[in-house]
Amino acid sequence: MLIKKLSIFLLFILIPLSAFAEQQESPEALGLINALGCKACHNLAGEGGSLAPTLDKIGSRKTAKQIEQHLVDHLKPNPDAFMPSYNTTSKKELKQISDYLYNLQ
Ligand code: HEC
Repeated sequence: MLIKKLSIFLLFILIPLSAFAEQQESPEALGLINALGCKACHNLAGEGGSLAPTLDKIGSRKTAKQIEQHLVDHLKPNPDAFMPSYNTTSKKELKQISDYLYNLQ
């Protein structure tokens, strides 16, 4: 009984903490998005170009994995796409970007 109460108590502490940790990551992901020039083509939070679909609600259309795949592999199904492939960007950075974008729902 005590264990059950304790774990419920822990959940109430850990869930807000993890949300806080995610928010802490965002500025870094946003820095990468700015540094890699995504906004030359994409609009994000009212900033950027209109050559490509807006990234604002991308998380409601694609999973984090699909976003990550798009960044490195989209030229395979669509060789004429003019979005560059980010296959030289590190796995860690690609994951940061796609997790961040996925959370925009
Ligand atoms: C030179 C212009 C250009 C740049 C720079 C660019 N994109 Fe794109 N992006 C496009 C275009 C055009 C499309 C739509 C056609 C396609 O899917 O390739 C697109 C599609 C996407 C999609 C899929 C959108 C959807 O609605 O399914 C994602 C996700 C994406 N881009 C993310 C990024 C990120 C993140 C960056 C920066 C790391 C970036 N793009 C840089 C032009 C660009």
